[in-house]
Amino acid sequence: MDTEITLVVDGVEHRLTVDTRTTVLDALRERLGITGPKKGCDHGQCGACTLLLDGRRVNSCLMLAVAFDGADLRTADGLGNGQLHPVQRAFIEHDAFQCGYCTPGQVVSAVGMVQEMHDGEPSAVTPESADLSDEVRERMSGNLCRCGAYANVVPAIVEVVR
Ligand code: FES
Repeated sequence: MDTEITLVVDGVEHRLTVDTRTTVLDALRERLGITGPKKGCDHGQCGACTLLLDGRRVNSCLMLAVAFDGADLRTADGLGNGQLHPVQRAFIEHDAFQCGYCTPGQVVSAVGMVQEMHDGEPSAVTPESADLSDEVRERMSGNLCRCGAYANVVPAIVEVVR
């Protein structure tokens, strides 16, 4: 069944008709040509498709587009309002990528994670004795990098958290 919805992506309103079974990731990539969010696993395991939904991190491959009708979505392209976001600058300064496929999801997730930490949201499993790098590793564990660039990703995010 088709239905008409509005997706607000990086501050731009898009009106479109979608099959009710369409994920928001497919609606963005295939219907709107918004390719910042990547399709890695399509099963909620890699984080390449991460978006901010009203500032909270979500895996867009797991969510139906109809559930996002009218919601404020943010991709890596809209984080800094036309400028690089501090997290994006830190990724560049730390050379925190290799092939770059996971980077939009990593950056979006890191922005959401920094906000969660500032809001005082506790980590589910990080012991209190853990250092900041361990905390970042745990909180970013939903974002995988097949190249294994974690050695630079983690310090980039730690720098922003500090
Ligand atoms: Fe969504 Fe991997 S593509 S978590």
